[in-house]
Amino acid sequence: MSVTEHPRILVTQRIPNPAYPLLEAVGEVEANMQTGLIWSYDELLQRGPGHEYILSLLTDTIDARFLEACAQSAPRLKLVANMAVGYNNIDVAAATRLGIAVTNTPGVLTDTTADLAFALLLATARRLGEAERFLRAGKFTGWEPLLFCGAEVHHATLGLIGMGRIGLAMARRARGFEMRVLYYNRSRLAPAEEAAFQAEYVPLDELLQRSDFVSIHAPYTPETHHLIGEREFALMPADAILINTARGPIVDEKALVNALAAGKIAGAGLDVFEREPLVEPELLQMENVVLLPHIGSGSLKTRTLMATTAASNIVAHARGQRPPTLLNPDVWV
Ligand code: DGY
Repeated sequence: MSVTEHPRILVTQRIPNPAYPLLEAVGEVEANMQTGLIWSYDELLQRGPGHEYILSLLTDTIDARFLEACAQSAPRLKLVANMAVGYNNIDVAAATRLGIAVTNTPGVLTDTTADLAFALLLATARRLGEAERFLRAGKFTGWEPLLFCGAEVHHATLGLIGMGRIGLAMARRARGFEMRVLYYNRSRLAPAEEAAFQAEYVPLDELLQRSDFVSIHAPYTPETHHLIGEREFALMPADAILINTARGPIVDEKALVNALAAGKIAGAGLDVFEREPLVEPELLQMENVVLLPHIGSGSLKTRTLMATTAASNIVAHARGQRPPTLLNPDVWV
C-alpha cells in the first residue's frame, strides 16, 4: 500500500482530545469541534467528499450513496474509521465494492460496556430510578417494609443473547453474583470455555422461558432486526426483565411497550432505542423501566481509547500499513 502525503481527514463529531494530535501528525484535519452537534445526513453528504479519511461516529449514516459520492470525489475516500465496535451505520459491502476500508474499535470498550449493562440490570431489578425519583420528590417519610421491594439478582438466571466479548464479560460479572448463566449465540463456545464461564448453551426460546434477566449483546444485522418481539415477550416469565445495551432495533420497541403495559414482563433497562434519539413516549411514562442515553462505553478512559484506536487506523493506513482493526480485508491487497 502506498503512503498518502498529507491526506485530508474529516472528524464528524467532537471526540476526546488525545486523538487529534495523532491525526494531525499525518494529515490535514477538518473537525466538527462543537460538543453535542451531530451533523445531519445532508450536511455529511456535503462535507464528506474530498477527504481521504473519515473518522465517523455511530450517528453517521455511511450508506452506499454517501460512499459513492466520496469515492467519486478528488481526493477519493480511502478509509472510514468508526469510533464504535458496532458498525451497522456503515454499508460495509458498498465500501468493499468501492475499495474503501472500514475499521471499528473492538476490545477497548468490552469491560466498560459490561459494567454499564450490569449496572442497568441492577438498577432495573432493584428499582433504583424509581426510588431515587421518589426520594428527590421529598416523598421519603421513613423506612417501610414494602418500600420499593424489587427483584433479587444474586442466584437468579441470566440469559445472554450474544456471547462475544461483551457477553462473556457479562458472564464473568454474573459469576460474582452466583447467577446461573444461559446463552444463545450464532456459534457455540468450545466446551472448555463453557466450563470456564459456567455458561449453558440453549436455543433462544428456551433462554427466554428460563431467564429472570435477558441481556442483549448481539450485533445489529438484518438477522437480528426485531429478534425480540411480541412472540418472544409471550415466552418470557411475567417477572422477567429485559436489558438492552446493544442496538435498539434488535427489540421491537412497540412490542416491548405492549408487553410492559400488559404485564407480560416486569421491567426493562434500556441504553439503546429503536429510533435513537427518539424514545417511545409510553416508555417515558413507565416506572418499571430504566432509560439511559446510549452511554454503555461512556467512561472518559474508554471513549479516549476508542478515539485513539479509530485515529490509529487512519494513521496506519496513511503510512501504508494495514489498519489494525480492519473489517473488510478484501480491500487490502
Ligand atoms: C459501540 O461501540 O458500538 C457502542 O454502541 C458505543 O460505544
